[in-house]
Amino acid sequence: MGVRKLLRFLWVISVVLLIEAFSGSGSVRLKSVAMNPPPLGICASSVRKHGYKCEEVDVTTEDGYILSVQRIPVGRGGAVGGGRKRQPVLLQHGVLVDGMTWLLNPPEQSLALILADNGYDVWIANTRGTSFSRRHVSLDPDRPVRIMLHIRFHSVEFWDWTWDEIVSRDLPAVIAFISQQTSQKIHYVGHSLGTLIALASLSEGKQLDKLKSAALLSPIAYLSHMTTALGVLAAKVFVGEYLVWLSSIQKGKNCCLNASTVDVFLRNEPQSTSTKNLVHLAQTVRDGVLAKYDYGNPAFNMEHYGQPRPPIYNISNIPRNFPLFMSYGGQDALSDPKDVATLLDDLKLHEEGKLSVQYIKDYAHADFIMGVTAKDVVYDKIISFFRRNQ
Ligand SMILES: *[C@@H]1O[C@H](CO)[C@@H](O)[C@H](O)[C@H]1NC(C)=O
Ligand SMILES: *[C@@H]1O[C@H](CO)[C@@H](O)[C@H](O)[C@H]1NC(C)=O
Repeated sequence: MGVRKLLRFLWVISVVLLIEAFSGSGSVRLKSVAMNPPPLGICASSVRKHGYKCEEVDVTTEDGYILSVQRIPVGRGGAVGGGRKRQPVLLQHGVLVDGMTWLLNPPEQSLALILADNGYDVWIANTRGTSFSRRHVSLDPDRPVRIMLHIRFHSVEFWDWTWDEIVSRDLPAVIAFISQQTSQKIHYVGHSLGTLIALASLSEGKQLDKLKSAALLSPIAYLSHMTTALGVLAAKVFVGEYLVWLSSIQKGKNCCLNASTVDVFLRNEPQSTSTKNLVHLAQTVRDGVLAKYDYGNPAFNMEHYGQPRPPIYNISNIPRNFPLFMSYGGQDALSDPKDVATLLDDLKLHEEGKLSVQYIKDYAHADFIMGVTAKDVVYDKIISFFRRNQ
């Protein structure tokens, strides 16, 4: 092991230990830069400059989080074509990033803008804790508890959630809002954690009445086979892998990244999330099952769930006629092909024709959102999938 690798390994381990030490409370923010969101919203910084209309919307969840959502209602130039109703599409980003990730490439390569140009009414979600969604009707996200190295730990209350709450609170609030505004069923696109959220919701029978279909890029449900140059120990912890991914993105295995896009990406990311969320992801890696947050002992679980073990999300319960599209890459260290195989096995009884699966041998995690070839390789397929499932 070279010195650099060793240093990176030690860094990952210290992050792991810090997370263990503070598990269950506060947030992890991996940048020492401004704690306040940049003055410009996503519409102003990344959409309107390309000649697209864009609206900033606030959606409040049942538990009081105020989420920033962007809407790109029409394609470039703004003409609403042909009188046909434009179908809504919701884009859901992954962990430690935000809605900006859909808008980093030039317009003709960015999924959000490609969808708008193809006649869709595009909505971009930003989950709780990310820079434009660090707001709450009563809780303060920035009340500092302590600061250590470049990691800040924040007040417990605002950050007391995991992706279970993204499933049970954020997603329902955003989907209900879009549904109310458009009076139409919605197509969903998720990347990375955004796929897990959809699979978990659908497995509980939620959102089925409001969603028309789901396209899942770099699907994540099982994380037991995540590969990493750092070995099994680091692989046990999702955040470690994610940080390595973020820090090594330029020299990583992603086949088709544009250097200037990567620059913009690294300026914006990583976003903060709750420590508890990362612990929950680490549990997914450790246990190899998709379950709700484990409070660590039977009594606490009993208190929260009325049973000693956390309830599982059973992916086989997703209705067999619900249209799904999945695209995964042969070089993806986070969404490992072996874990995708486990996921596909859960869906083996899905109706013929309702599950489309694409395997791209040379794609890694970031290629699905930033790859310069992604339009031809993946996005055109998503659009034909949506057209088949109008
Ligand atoms: C890379 O991104 C820059 C800035 O968005 C753009 O001008 C350039 O055309 C892109 N290169 C490729 C090969 O797409
Ligand atoms: C998930 O549900 C399927 C039927 O829908 C069932 O056969 C299977 O045992 C369940 N898995 C678990 C782990 O409960």
